[in-house]
Amino acid sequence: MNVCRTTGLTVEQQERWPFLYSHLSSEIEIPSLNDMDEQFIIEMDKEISRILKHVGDGKAKSRESLTRHLKGLLQRRFQRNAKVEAFGSSVTGLSLGTGDLDLCLSFKKEQPKKVLRKVAGLLREEGMMDIQQIPRAKIPIVKFNDSRSGLDVDISIENRLAIHNSKMLKGYAQDKRVREFILMIKYWASRRGINTAYEGTLSSYAWTLMSIQHLQMTNPPVAPNRQSGNKPNLVEINGESYDISNDSSPFESENKQSLASLLITFFDRFATRWDWNEMVVSIRNGGPLNAEKKRWTHTGPLPLEVVTGQSKNRMEHVMPIEDPFDHEHDLSRIVKAEGAMTIQEEFMRALHLLSEGKSWKEICTPVMEIDEEPEDFFHDLRTQNIDLLRQSLDEMKTEVTQVEEHIQSLVTERQNSKELLDLLRGTLQETRNVKSNRQSILAELRPLSMKVQELRQTRDGINDRIAIPTKRIRQEMVRMFDSLTAEVDVFNTQNLGKEKGDFSYFFELQAMYKASIESNEAHQEFIRLRREQNKEYKALKKTNSKEEDVLNRLIEKNPELKGINLHPKTVKEFQQNANKLQKSINIQYSKKHELRREIGRIEAWIRIAASKGKQRPKRDSKPRTARRQAPAVNINEVRERASTGGSFSLNELDALLSKGGISGIESKEKASTSNQSDRRKAGRKKSTYRVDPRQGRKRGKKQSRK
Ligand code: GTP
Ligand code: MG
Repeated sequence: MNVCRTTGLTVEQQERWPFLYSHLSSEIEIPSLNDMDEQFIIEMDKEISRILKHVGDGKAKSRESLTRHLKGLLQRRFQRNAKVEAFGSSVTGLSLGTGDLDLCLSFKKEQPKKVLRKVAGLLREEGMMDIQQIPRAKIPIVKFNDSRSGLDVDISIENRLAIHNSKMLKGYAQDKRVREFILMIKYWASRRGINTAYEGTLSSYAWTLMSIQHLQMTNPPVAPNRQSGNKPNLVEINGESYDISNDSSPFESENKQSLASLLITFFDRFATRWDWNEMVVSIRNGGPLNAEKKRWTHTGPLPLEVVTGQSKNRMEHVMPIEDPFDHEHDLSRIVKAEGAMTIQEEFMRALHLLSEGKSWKEICTPVMEIDEEPEDFFHDLRTQNIDLLRQSLDEMKTEVTQVEEHIQSLVTERQNSKELLDLLRGTLQETRNVKSNRQSILAELRPLSMKVQELRQTRDGINDRIAIPTKRIRQEMVRMFDSLTAEVDVFNTQNLGKEKGDFSYFFELQAMYKASIESNEAHQEFIRLRREQNKEYKALKKTNSKEEDVLNRLIEKNPELKGINLHPKTVKEFQQNANKLQKSINIQYSKKHELRREIGRIEAWIRIAASKGKQRPKRDSKPRTARRQAPAVNINEVRERASTGGSFSLNELDALLSKGGISGIESKEKASTSNQSDRRKAGRKKSTYRVDPRQGRKRGKKQSRK
């Protein structure tokens, strides 16, 4: 394999991180940004103002209405126990318009059980897309996409600290220059693919904190430290206490640097001057904390060692960034080795391009194709033939009916399956008592049978050896005893041999007598135990018929139980079947929602086209750069007009759709394009270009192979 002997990077990796590679292999000098041309900075500022005109939360209204909608839904579902609050960029004013909607679901009383699952179920019924549950994270989250607005949404549970830190970030962002600076860093990070925490780079939140840190460290500071010198304000969250005190009063900075100049110093600082081994980003400190003192020094291998396969160990505190309220939370704990490499590559790249006088636009060239937002709901319908659209509308309507029928049959099947399942569970419960009775009888019977067997063997063993009955043995013993103890007839004495024989016969009779008694006793015990055994058998038989009675009674009442094997395994099988059916129902529901949304959209377009008296109202496939300010819409008036078949403008339709639907156009479903959801999916595709910043430091070089 073609591997660099200095860095250990393969050719593919060298191509992936070219600036970083050149730097690590000492081929190029680190450029200095100290003496940037003044004209260049002026041009860059102009460019930034142009970009700033286009970024911002264009979807603020959608965010608001979606938040309201979800709030209502969740409160209905959890009987007003739920509290839904937005946090993140939709409240901080730091949205580029491309970010997600962050919502926190908390509970006034007790948190319901299996809350994530319940929320996910609710969202599914609402036709939300790509629903994912992340239950094992520190803060459990449900992620999904609202295809109507195209918004990605995170609903996190009891994430109250985030609400507080968002409020503080809003305080920082009230200053125009601070807000615009953060927006530009987020813009750069987002377009360069290094703000995706789940892919191992840093979150937008982490980039925001780094931006604030930079602005706190300029001389004089552009941003204040909002957490210093306040009276502590402690809140308790999940048993932990946090000081959330912060000052939100306006801050007048004496620093007059322009945005471009601040951006240049940002790259200069974090690409080369920031030693991640020793410094922790800490906005509550107003400047870096000492990593060693905080016990956050980097442990484990360097990212370079991981990507070159020299180590597989875990890295800790790879680029430590402290959460302003939760001081134990290092925002870089999700950064992976590849992510760290790519972030550093991006820092090095920005440094080089700036030093070469390249534009901010070029520095922020997207690493993956960015799908520009279509300018309206109908962008793909404008060029289509109305008759063909009508035809596909009919087909879709038929399909909806079919899907609805399918859902109905699945729901009925699941309902039956669930009822049977409950019945089975009840039946098993009812027969459980009888069964446990039988178990205890069997438990007693087992040793009894063994004892009976033992006694039988003892008795039969003795009887095999001694065929004579006990009575006979005793008579014989008496006779022999008399004979042996009779007076001796001196004239007729026995010879010695006969006398010996009589004695041994007597002793033998004695032994036989003892054994025979033993056999009799064994026999008596055997008889007694057999009687007991018989009693138990009878009881056992009774339980069998009792169980049969219970079952017959149940089957009589519920004929559907006939032929079903009443066993816990069967219950499991029924449960699995019910779950499978539920999954199919969910899939069909999503399909139905998508179809109905699309029907609503096409119907609306046909109506507009008809009302304007032309089939193809407008053909402007090129996105407009700036939309004209839309006139205010009286939604009730438009709704009434729509329901009576009157015409309305695109702007009115947009408002109508975003207010929940068009009465009179059948469906109250939210209009949106399926293309939007596809687009979101495409947008979520993993970037092939990834990121990280630890290699710039000397340690990376020292570790390199010669
Ligand atoms: P965009 O969604 O890209 O517009 O950025 P954002 O400002 O909303 O940031 P992000 O979505 O990354 O984070 C949202 C909020 O989550 C932040 O403002 C914090 O309040 C909170 N938060 C707290 N800890 C974390 C964390 O470790 N990661 C992330 N991503 N967010 C956190
Ligand atoms: Mg966000």
